[in-house]
Amino acid sequence: MSNPLNIAIAGLGTVGVGTVQVLQKHAREIAVRCGREINITAVSSRDKSKDRGVDLSGFAWFDDPVEMAKTAKADVVVELIGGSTGVALDVTMASIAAGRHVVTANKALVAEAGENIARAAEDAGVTLAYEAAVAGGIPIIKAIREGLAGNRVSRVIGILNGTCNYILSTMEETGRDFDSVLKDAQDLGFAEADPSFDIDGVDAAHKLAILASLAFGTRLGFKQVHIEGLRDITALDFVYAKELGYRIKLLGLAGQTDAGVYQRVYPCLIDQEGPLAAVDGSFNAVIAEGDFVGRSVYEGRGAGAGPTASAVVADLIDIAAGRLSLAFGVPAARLADLKAIPIKDRAGPFYIRLTVIDQPGVFADISSAFGHANISMESILQRDHDEAGNAHIVIVTHSITEGALRLALKGLEDHTAVVEAPHVIRIEDVWGE
Ligand SMILES: NC(=O)c1ccc[n+]([C@@H]2O[C@H](COP(=O)([O-])OP(=O)(O)OC[C@H]3O[C@@H](n4cnc5c(N)ncnc54)[C@H](OP(=O)(O)O)[C@@H]3O)[C@@H](O)[C@H]2O)c1
Repeated sequence: MSNPLNIAIAGLGTVGVGTVQVLQKHAREIAVRCGREINITAVSSRDKSKDRGVDLSGFAWFDDPVEMAKTAKADVVVELIGGSTGVALDVTMASIAAGRHVVTANKALVAEAGENIARAAEDAGVTLAYEAAVAGGIPIIKAIREGLAGNRVSRVIGILNGTCNYILSTMEETGRDFDSVLKDAQDLGFAEADPSFDIDGVDAAHKLAILASLAFGTRLGFKQVHIEGLRDITALDFVYAKELGYRIKLLGLAGQTDAGVYQRVYPCLIDQEGPLAAVDGSFNAVIAEGDFVGRSVYEGRGAGAGPTASAVVADLIDIAAGRLSLAFGVPAARLADLKAIPIKDRAGPFYIRLTVIDQPGVFADISSAFGHANISMESILQRDHDEAGNAHIVIVTHSITEGALRLALKGLEDHTAVVEAPHVIRIEDVWGE
């Protein structure tokens, strides 16, 4: 066997400890698979005294992970701290400057600074590997970058955030409102104390920007992702969505057309019989469409110690076996400029829920506002809602532009019988065009 691959791990939280466990438990098999052992030589975290449930006694301890990145006896530094700036970025750049490969699970870092890091890594002749950064245990980076490399990929769609998917599945199952389900998710450890990155769609947008760059060969465009989160989804919307044959999911959608690239994250209605509809709880799934392969679907656990560490260790095995990839499949300097298609150019059907005073003429006024905006309706539900005499009117439109929708809603803005701001959710055909 060749010399062992020496690694230093920065960050011993959920993923860091998971990585130590996988490497310890499967040391023998891993050594056979890569033809050499993978040895942890050094670790770093904030609190040396914390019991992490793993034996760290054989590893050099560093209080300062940047110092470790510069001086540890390591061929690879594994960055498992988190954050797009600060210590995670410093550890990464120091590792590269010292000629060490970097493995990370940090989607914020890759989405926001990935191009600069990839350039620095190329210049230093080392690799930046980040399989764990998107969709946890699903090997989606490798699938798109290598498995689909013979295709022109036209679309990537995914359930990319397990916390959001858990909240939406639970709201649907229990009929409870967003705030109470979020609180439970926090108590159970499925959502962070500060859940905003997840529920406001930022985490999914980081992952989508990475997938879009890999799929389309374009520069990373996290800032161009149109992002909407979950906060406006109510328990009632699940009731009506179900009646209409849909489920509600937070999707990331990216596509390349002649006009450029769109990248969108928002909750949307999808066909309850379709391919992503059955992906529940903390699971993730991705659909990628290539011109020769057609549609391919990937599903698995999107987070947690085991699945994420599984992806970290896969990257380490590749490095140990000498399979070094360019971070984005092509040299970073050759990524094409990204021409972003704005959300206003989206055309598609919408779900619109209006709360109205149940009085004669309201329905005709709504129809007229929609007719004026040239919107045809595919289906309409009218349901009694509360004792105050309010009713819900739920409209599913045919495919329309965002502009037409805004025009129709503006026509109803000052209507005295419309008692609440309309609830609007986009409808996406994940299996169609
Ligand atoms: N958790 C998941 O399911 C998951 C899934 C996919 C990707 N990721 C990504 O993986 C990375 C790690 O996530 P995690 O869930 O493992 O986070 P975590 O449990 O919060 O662990 C973070 C670790 O970083 C250490 N740390 C923080 N600041 C430090 C500093 N200045 N110097 C040294 N160590 C420092 C902490 O030290 P102490 O323990 O001493 O406080 C802790 O061990 C993040 O980028 C995250 O986005 C996580």
